[in-house]
Amino acid sequence: MCGIFGYVGKNNNAAQITLEGLKLLEYRGYDSWGIAVKSGKKLDVEKHVGKIGSAALKSSIINHKSSIAIGHTRWATHGGVTVQNAHPHLDCTKTIAVVHNGIVENFEELKKDLIKKGHKFISQTDTEVIVHLIEDFLKKEGFASSVRDAFNLLKGLNAIVVVNAVSSEIIAAKNGSPLIVGIGKDEFYIASDLIGISDYTNKIVFLKDNEMIILGKNIKLLSLPKGSRLKEKIEKINFKFEKSSKGNFEHFMIKEIYDQPKIIRNIARNYSDQVRKMSHLVESAKGIFFIGAGTAYHAGLAGTYLFSKNAHMHVNTSVASEFNYLEDFLTKESLIISLSQSGETIDVIEPLNIAKKKGSKIIAVTNSIGSTIYRMADFNILLNAGPEKAVASTKAYTAKLCVILMLVFALIKKEKEAELLLNNAAKEAERILEDNNIKKIKEIAKTLKDSKNIYVIGRGLSYPSALEASLKIKEVSYIPTEGLAGGELKHGTIALIEKGTPCIVFAPKDETFESIISNATEIKSRGGVIIGVSSKKSDVFDHFIEIKGLAQAAFITQIIPLQLLAYFLAVYGGLDPDKPRNLAKSVTVK
Ligand code: AGP
Repeated sequence: MCGIFGYVGKNNNAAQITLEGLKLLEYRGYDSWGIAVKSGKKLDVEKHVGKIGSAALKSSIINHKSSIAIGHTRWATHGGVTVQNAHPHLDCTKTIAVVHNGIVENFEELKKDLIKKGHKFISQTDTEVIVHLIEDFLKKEGFASSVRDAFNLLKGLNAIVVVNAVSSEIIAAKNGSPLIVGIGKDEFYIASDLIGISDYTNKIVFLKDNEMIILGKNIKLLSLPKGSRLKEKIEKINFKFEKSSKGNFEHFMIKEIYDQPKIIRNIARNYSDQVRKMSHLVESAKGIFFIGAGTAYHAGLAGTYLFSKNAHMHVNTSVASEFNYLEDFLTKESLIISLSQSGETIDVIEPLNIAKKKGSKIIAVTNSIGSTIYRMADFNILLNAGPEKAVASTKAYTAKLCVILMLVFALIKKEKEAELLLNNAAKEAERILEDNNIKKIKEIAKTLKDSKNIYVIGRGLSYPSALEASLKIKEVSYIPTEGLAGGELKHGTIALIEKGTPCIVFAPKDETFESIISNATEIKSRGGVIIGVSSKKSDVFDHFIEIKGLAQAAFITQIIPLQLLAYFLAVYGGLDPDKPRNLAKSVTVK
């Protein structure tokens, strides 16, 4: 999940350029950060625990006036969050340093062998093994072949960037997480994703798996398995990443919640053509599968209900990471609709690689143009939700739901109805965000903020809402929260209900209403406290969150009060809703 950035070129403020690049990648990991720069024939590093935020570099680093640097924002996998474990990691001679994204699955055996050879380790990370491996090979071969030989010994999915103070070169190699090269005038950039580079250049090389690239005076692309020279494919990107700021909002999460009405409206008004094209792929497929992780999975699950209810079509949904173990039935007539805000989720990329090998068609619904999943797909739908910086996904979730609804209604030739539903949903979203409703959500948050646990139930299209609400609450407030299908309550979870246990109940006026109210009554009769999310009050509700608008779009807008509830629970808990502990915005390691 880490952020990687590197620079080599005509400017001698490589350290500052790298720091700015890392700040754009902070969402990928914010346990610690560090930068290595050239100082003579050696490297000097600066490392810190904690978020990079608005950090400035030490003058000692700046004063090297280095024209080469690499940097890293870390999400810890091996070894605690300490300065020693922060990247970059130096070899014994302090002439090479490495930053890394991924997991070296065989690092213990490699480390034992390197220690026997006299290498000194200062960290508990798997990454440090890489730089000592390269150092070892350098004793008998050149820099490029040393990096290649070292990388080929690593097991697992990895992306590394290595800087050499002697040769003033940067080498990058990958077989998993993304790495992108930006080509400037007499300068090169390398980063984990485009957002770090697009301000400097529009000439890009997307490093492919099992490739390595040498950046220095010029650029050289090699095959990792064979070492042979490859011709780099220079692509021109014709877009810039919009920078998002919090504006007058205290956090990105609340700002992005408020972005939703305009995003829903945009999809309602501007997506018919591309969704119609997508629908032709759906019509010609035999076997359709939504895959996604976390929130994206919940959107896919809602899609399964929508396809069944409106188009009478059977569409499967799988947690992306589980699809690896399910996809033996894929054929070249299968269609995978992959959902991913970041477009970099490794749990989605892996099964897509298998699906591509089987000749299956891939549609990507992402919010990140140029991302790995975006580039893997046969057909793309961009959410155009604007950068989603808060780790907790909000606007990308409702945007995905809108796209899926438009797709289903395109299949049944009822696009106008879909546009009406979504325009209505945008209005309802605006109503939910009015001050009087915000005030009510704050009051409910105050009653829940010290809860030991919270349950969320829903049926039908509200079942994905229950899962999504539960994920929002737990990932930003750390209150243990379980989302489940209302019908599952009596199959186990009801054993956990005791006096005062809060349970949020999605009860839209649809075919699930009576049954979910019965479930709420069963909870209440055991002392539970019921927070009803419904278009009408009920005696069983202790708290009432009103939802209005057209029932068929309720599954989109009813999540918004729960996004707000999660946000205020985090704020009342004194937490940072944008960067919850242990999480990262883009999960690029398994
Ligand atoms: C959502 O709030 C979580 N941060 C997480 O579950 C997220 O949805 C998941 O990691 C998938 O991310 P993606 O949409 O970028 O693929």
